[in-house]
Amino acid sequence: MKPNEVRQKFLTFFESKGHKIMPSSSLVSDDDSSVLFTTAGMQQFKPYYLGKKNATEDFGSLSTTSSQKCIRTSDIEEVGDASHLTFFEMLGNFSFGGYFKEEAIKYAYEFIVGELGLDIDYVTVFMGDKNVPFDNESYDIWKNFVPEEKIKKFGKEDNFWGPTGKEGPCGPTTEIYVKGVEVWNIVFNEYYCRPKSDQPGADSDEQVLENLPTSGVDTGMGLERLSMMVSKTPTIFETDLFGNIIKEIEKVSGVSYFESGYEKVFRIIADHIRSSVFILSDGVAPSNSERGYILRRLIRRLVRHMKILNIESSFMLKVAKIVIESYKDAYPDLVKKEDEIISELKAEEERFEKTLKEGLKQFEKFSIHGISGHDAFILFSTYGFPFEETLEVAREKGIKVDEAGFREEFKRHQEVSRAGMEKKFKGGLSGTSPEETRLHTATHLLHQALREVLGLHVAQKGSNITPERLRFDFSHSEKMTPEELKKVEDIVNERINEKLSVTVEDMTPDEAKEKGAIGIFGDKYEDKVKVYSVSGFSKEICGGPHVQNTSELGHFKIKKEEATSAGVRRIKAVLE
Ligand code: SER
Repeated sequence: MKPNEVRQKFLTFFESKGHKIMPSSSLVSDDDSSVLFTTAGMQQFKPYYLGKKNATEDFGSLSTTSSQKCIRTSDIEEVGDASHLTFFEMLGNFSFGGYFKEEAIKYAYEFIVGELGLDIDYVTVFMGDKNVPFDNESYDIWKNFVPEEKIKKFGKEDNFWGPTGKEGPCGPTTEIYVKGVEVWNIVFNEYYCRPKSDQPGADSDEQVLENLPTSGVDTGMGLERLSMMVSKTPTIFETDLFGNIIKEIEKVSGVSYFESGYEKVFRIIADHIRSSVFILSDGVAPSNSERGYILRRLIRRLVRHMKILNIESSFMLKVAKIVIESYKDAYPDLVKKEDEIISELKAEEERFEKTLKEGLKQFEKFSIHGISGHDAFILFSTYGFPFEETLEVAREKGIKVDEAGFREEFKRHQEVSRAGMEKKFKGGLSGTSPEETRLHTATHLLHQALREVLGLHVAQKGSNITPERLRFDFSHSEKMTPEELKKVEDIVNERINEKLSVTVEDMTPDEAKEKGAIGIFGDKYEDKVKVYSVSGFSKEICGGPHVQNTSELGHFKIKKEEATSAGVRRIKAVLE
């Protein structure tokens, strides 16, 4: 049975049990803003578990089934082994106060053993802890299907799921293992889980559980792993889901997958290109923040691995087209977005090549005395030079790199930017979607342009960014004339057209002042501040995030200029 048939069989099986078949939601989900990407099939159904929406009204049933696109990058280092991926499809069946443990387990057994003819190695159930009792119900139900010695009891680490993001439905699980690999995770959503404390630094493992008004079922089974079981291949990459992709990589590289000793490289390329294509198809563009940054890392890691096989960049696009071709029936959106996907991949590859070139120059300067942790961090944060690349080039040249130093600096930096981000969200300054990131950089250009046109008395009094527009309040006492507005607009657009690079550096507030950075100095900042520079034009203290290059912004247009209070003007502007 081919993976496409397995997917269909799953959906049809649950349809025959009264489930409504639902399409996959986007990878960029509005239903669960607490996670960057959709990581589980249940996310689009969260409100039904919580009783906020009524399943019978919306689906004509208390249960649904789907094959959900998911991205999980926590295992990225393991991609290339037999069963780890960053993108996968999750088959799931869901019950919102309808059936519970008895049917969930019976259906799972029927599907795995009856429909697919697989043997179950063993199953696991939750052994209980101080908050949640041993799941003896599931244990007893399983006894009807498998010998008791095949029912194992595990703790919270393995057999308690959720929530996605900060809070949400969660509960004990029972899991099914086939050939030593977990294939199916069945969650019994009996609780609502929230963190004990929202305070930064609080132990994030400490959770408060409340009983949900009705219990639910949420199951997840990776299509790729299941297909590997069904088609009895040694890894997921030999299943039909990857067959054509691997063949195309062989074709464009002239290297053989099985014989070259480069299997792992092939698999990483196959996985990353699939993830990148799907993320792009859901409208995310590569950038330096959040989702865009994850996509950027995936594409750049992909390009680096293609280089190992000497694959030319234009061939990456051929492989991407095969991905679209392989998935077009299950995900018709891919075809509609094909041109966009291909051109974004191409543009990001080109940006990366440029970064590598500039980074290498800087690398040469640093490397005279070996690469310190700080050097490696500057290469990474300012020049976008991946740390893996630093290690590789250094190895080639026989230069030492202070790895531990880099990791320390990286960690410190992450903490600072996380703190900055939390402040920013509280202040309502801006979010971090690609649109907001672009508008954020445009705000810096606007601020500097206003100072050039109106004078150096112009200082920021407020800023608010939504995905649609920026709003900037600044000190100035007269209404701006149409000529002034036009001049400001022109300056910003010129800087955009000049394709200026945007870089960031950490420094003390004093150093920032010395370097002429504008922005808000004050006690709300730690001992280090981030200074964002638009090459040769603006320097501003800011928590970020920003685009890498002003060419990413598009056309800047002022929509409105008005007074907000005495001596303060407000501009609303958009990027078209
Ligand atoms: N939400 C659970 C998981 O992701 C089951 O779907 O494993």
